[in-house]
Amino acid sequence: MNRRTFLLTPAVAAGALQSQTKPTASPAPRSVPARRSYDLNRNWRYGGKAPAGFAAPAFDDSKWERVTLPHANVRLPWHSFEEADFQFVSAYRRHFHAPATWQGKRVFVDFAGAMTAAKVTVNGYEFPEYRGGYTPFSFEITSHFHIGGDNVIAVAVDSTERKDIPPFGENIDYLTFGGIYRNVSLRVVPATFIENVHARVLRPLEANREISVRCYLNGPVAPGTQINAELRDGDRVLKSAITVAGGEAAYHEVTLDSLGAVELWEPKRPKLYSIVVKMAGDEYRTRIGIREAKFTAEGFKLNGATLKLRGLNRHQTFPYLGGAMPERVQRRDAWILRRDLHCNIVRTSHYPQATSFLDACDELGLLVFEETPGWQFVGDRPWQDVVVRNVGEMIRRDWNHPSIILWGVRVNESGDHHDLYTRTNTLAHSLDDTRQTGGVRYNYNSELLEDVFTMNDFGFPLRPPNHPLYLNTEFNGHMFSTKRFDNVTRVAEHVTRHARVHNQLAGDSKYAGGLGWCAFDYNTHKNFGSGDHICYHGVSDIFRIPKPAAYFYKSQCDPDEEIVLEAGLFWSSGDRSTAGGVGEVPILSNCDHLKIYYDGKLREELDPDRKTYPNLKYPPFILTKFGNIPLNPWGDLRIEGFLKGSLVKTLTLSGSGRDADFKLLPDDTELSGDGRDATRVVFMVTDEYGNIRPFATGGIAFTLTGPAELIGENPFGLAGGAGAVWVKSRETSGVARLTAKHPYLGTKAVEIRVKAAEREML
Ligand code: GAL
Repeated sequence: MNRRTFLLTPAVAAGALQSQTKPTASPAPRSVPARRSYDLNRNWRYGGKAPAGFAAPAFDDSKWERVTLPHANVRLPWHSFEEADFQFVSAYRRHFHAPATWQGKRVFVDFAGAMTAAKVTVNGYEFPEYRGGYTPFSFEITSHFHIGGDNVIAVAVDSTERKDIPPFGENIDYLTFGGIYRNVSLRVVPATFIENVHARVLRPLEANREISVRCYLNGPVAPGTQINAELRDGDRVLKSAITVAGGEAAYHEVTLDSLGAVELWEPKRPKLYSIVVKMAGDEYRTRIGIREAKFTAEGFKLNGATLKLRGLNRHQTFPYLGGAMPERVQRRDAWILRRDLHCNIVRTSHYPQATSFLDACDELGLLVFEETPGWQFVGDRPWQDVVVRNVGEMIRRDWNHPSIILWGVRVNESGDHHDLYTRTNTLAHSLDDTRQTGGVRYNYNSELLEDVFTMNDFGFPLRPPNHPLYLNTEFNGHMFSTKRFDNVTRVAEHVTRHARVHNQLAGDSKYAGGLGWCAFDYNTHKNFGSGDHICYHGVSDIFRIPKPAAYFYKSQCDPDEEIVLEAGLFWSSGDRSTAGGVGEVPILSNCDHLKIYYDGKLREELDPDRKTYPNLKYPPFILTKFGNIPLNPWGDLRIEGFLKGSLVKTLTLSGSGRDADFKLLPDDTELSGDGRDATRVVFMVTDEYGNIRPFATGGIAFTLTGPAELIGENPFGLAGGAGAVWVKSRETSGVARLTAKHPYLGTKAVEIRVKAAEREML
């Protein structure tokens, strides 16, 4: 590498620069105009199944539907659809005008993701097909656009299960769906520009910590080119340094050292900084966190302290639209996992997920194990080449996210493949020497080429760690499909299965922790799951509504974060598989003592079940009192939760057997009027105390007025007493009003304000 680095404090930066550098071929980097990036998510035309010749510039698309991105090639019922319905080649077109300011600039079109292969044509020029549904791709259109007049980007998106593209080849246990389901933008940059920046924090815990900012340029630079990197806290520049570069190099490095006091990134205080890199005519910004994440023989350590990893696997798909949900909805999943279920880690099973999801993980302090696309199958050499390429694309896209602590460089649960996994590990380590690798397997005796042995172990008890660095990446999978509205024995057993595994993991420091299978129910092929195209292995249902097992995770946080008191059961006396009565049922709480009142009288006092769960900080409480005998009279159960002798929370479960109320609960009451934004609205039938009635049925009829669109079934036939639709903004402002009518519990309404959004520039 050809470089000289000068370290500057912000106050003296400009002056020092002049004194230390000779006149250069390129202007000083301080006054550079930033690159321009234009959103290209609105004003697309969608033609459904691709008609012949649709990529020709003159093709008449005026009758095509006008759509925004993210977009699903077809809308589907939430279950029991035909999986072939989304497997076709669809056609998209986007017209744009190129402003005169683009003269002499280089222009790229950037796709964040299209499922599963895309042929992009610009003004009739066809680029090579991009293969891969989970990774971003770009094409340079500099010599294909014209200033003045119409330009057309046409995209043929192949959403069939192409055997040449991971994860396909054989059967997989999830659906991929179709369409341009992530964002698209146009990027205008100078001739020499910054392609990527990798900010590596070295020795983060030591006083001499430094940030090595690797600047990847698109090609050789003129001798004397100055590259300036800054560490910023909000707008405040904390440190600035310049490297004088020249010629060709894999990357040019700017070192930011003597950083002084910094705040570390950690789950409870996920402090984020930004890095700004400037080079003549170009500027690149990224966010970072300063933390040390390391798997060791004594478990996982974050910033030097052991942190037992407790989390869940997440598929990125949603009802009705597959993966095509906007930022707000992606981010909500991270919020649910971190703030509601109090997990500290998520695995992006089994592929790189939306960057908006990862951004939210950074902001919320949710650690991430991210992995390359694939499921159990390894194809021929060209297929393997795609895996290697995907690993590189994943790491280059995401290497600055502090939340990511491990790269998954093996196809989930694939057999050993020495050659392929030597390639992926070597690549991962060469691109990013600050993170360890993992590779998820279910074969306990498989070859370890990665740093961490990441193992799906579905039995109980779990096998002992057979490698020094050991993480359980899935448990409770195949064997225990549980619907939110299964009978009480099953939902209670579902809770127990998650609790007992985390108890075992907590009892041995050699386990770094574990991630249960899985966070949310997901759509799958007909030969997996419950026969309705859903795999019900989530601790929450497909609408992200918790099952009792979710409350086990929720209850594991400290009370200063949230006081939790939830029932791991439905209150019933005759719903068990094998006997009458209430039986032994779990209550999930981080209180230290519970009092149980029934029929107005104190019946039982409970302490956490430390005998069964000695290693959990907050073991479940087990209600045993009511045994096998049906209670008569049958009535409400009141549970009082205490902390150090004070009553801190009360939960009452109705014994009335009556659907008492109907609720309509939006996640947000304000959306952007960009025609892309959306929010979930949950509806539920409850008892008098607000608990979902798990067997409530009925058709819910929706009416939506104002500048929004309903994503979901209407009427919605309730299953399990609850469900959700999403309200998506239209490209205008006003107040959207959603009303939902239950057959006998009346009508509820919510208002969602849709704020005017700026129009897209192009
Ligand atoms: C695992 C697999 C997951 C899911 C799960 C279901 O083996 O890794 O993707 O299929 O089983 O039980």
